[in-house]
Amino acid sequence: MMLILVGYMGSGKSIIGRELAKVLNYDYVDFDDFIEIQENASIKTIFETKGEIYFRKAESKYLDKIIKLKKTIVSLGGGTPCYGNNMERILDSNESTSIYLKANIPTLSKRLFDERCKRPLIAHINTIEQLNEFIGKHLFERAAFYERSNMSIKTDDKSVEEVVESILLQLF
Ligand code: S3P
Repeated sequence: MMLILVGYMGSGKSIIGRELAKVLNYDYVDFDDFIEIQENASIKTIFETKGEIYFRKAESKYLDKIIKLKKTIVSLGGGTPCYGNNMERILDSNESTSIYLKANIPTLSKRLFDERCKRPLIAHINTIEQLNEFIGKHLFERAAFYERSNMSIKTDDKSVEEVVESILLQLF
């Protein structure tokens, strides 16, 4: 079996993924890190030098490699399910369960504000109000993709341990 974590930037995909892998004794793959290794460049550099469309095509290309893994937890990038036929491929992959880590706009803004520089899509934003507005518009476009996941878990006001526990309860 494998678990695929889906959700907006700042929804906790990496931290929850690492913890879940520890508890279940599975391998862990962060898809952004995987792409950085394959492309030998940081996400920030890929966006700056080759542009977003190149990055989206790379995500699509490497997705097949990732969804074939066994006994692995994968955290996808926030945009991965939302381009091309990526969400279809995620849902069609055998023996995998996709989990949407859901968080509301203020939670995401609070978590993301100090980490903007690591994320090219929000690096230009200066205030929390601008970030709220950006996330609001973006989530409106993206939520329909995330919502197709096999399971959905609310993460607002929950600790990492609590989110992991809710996932395990729903799974087993
Ligand atoms: C993106 C999310 C990022 C990364 C890239 C684009 C997005 O991943 O893939 O900066 O489009 O939402 P995280 O969700 O892990 O931050």
